[in-house]
Amino acid sequence: MGLKGIVSRRRIAEAKMTRDEDVLKSRLDPSRLPRHVAVIMDGNGRWALKRGFPRTVGHQKGVDSLREVVRLSAELNIPVLSAYAFSTENWRRPPEEITFLMDLFVDYAGKESEELKRNGVKVRVIGRVEGLSPHVSEAIRMLEETTRGGRVLVLNLAVNYGARWEIVDAVKAITEKVWSGKLKPEDIDETVVSDHLYTSGLPDPDLLIRPAGEFRLSNFLLWQLAYTEFYVTPVLWPDFGRVEFLQALVHYQRRERRYGGLKRGL
Ligand code: IPE
Ligand code: IPE
Ligand code: MG
Repeated sequence: MGLKGIVSRRRIAEAKMTRDEDVLKSRLDPSRLPRHVAVIMDGNGRWALKRGFPRTVGHQKGVDSLREVVRLSAELNIPVLSAYAFSTENWRRPPEEITFLMDLFVDYAGKESEELKRNGVKVRVIGRVEGLSPHVSEAIRMLEETTRGGRVLVLNLAVNYGARWEIVDAVKAITEKVWSGKLKPEDIDETVVSDHLYTSGLPDPDLLIRPAGEFRLSNFLLWQLAYTEFYVTPVLWPDFGRVEFLQALVHYQRRERRYGGLKRGL
């Protein structure tokens, strides 16, 4: 069989990947799980419109997917999960949708904080949170405070997040340190930049999950994703559950990461 044949057989096998949770779990090597998974929670609107519902129903359903993915990450001992909830570009949407999304976040914080705490999840909201309305800021404060002691999983919730703004904020913070003499320009390196991002202290994502079939980053974690493995799936976020998450992890473990080096054994 030629290379084409091998590739297409592999594609078919992958498309047919089992939906049995136990089988998928048995295919995972617990010692090689990602230390950080990032997910762009996209496709809520399409999910709803396909069923004749308003887009907001898709957002509501998307919360269930987030809950499942958070639970499973904690169960599997994945230390960090970053979920993109609202981007700095999402302000371009109609005001009613924005209000709905903000209220949904407040609702999520109120309803989920106790379970998150029980499961050892520590929530960190990343983004430009200063500009958000008081009830959203209060929900963020409460959620972070309630889950402060979580030691199993760090959940970064990206709210009013834009990677370019994150880098601008880091540049400003570094510049201030240089001006005040706390940092020498020659000491600025990759670690210094990383330490001034919203994700400081956390490992970069090993795996990025991009549902809804889009091949773009939509301004998510531009710096941190430099060597991340991408997993793009056509599944819309509200349909993304435990099985889809396990499938993504199985795919991830089949990848060979070279970081600019050579294939093992060469
Ligand atoms: C993602 O779903 C949720 C947010 C961006 C807040 P979308 O609302 O973007 O859904 P689609 O892409 O229109 O299907
Ligand atoms: C990305 O989805 C942002 C979030 C999921 C929060 P978008 O729907 O905003 O992305 P684009 O506009 O299709 O790139
Ligand atoms: Mg979208």
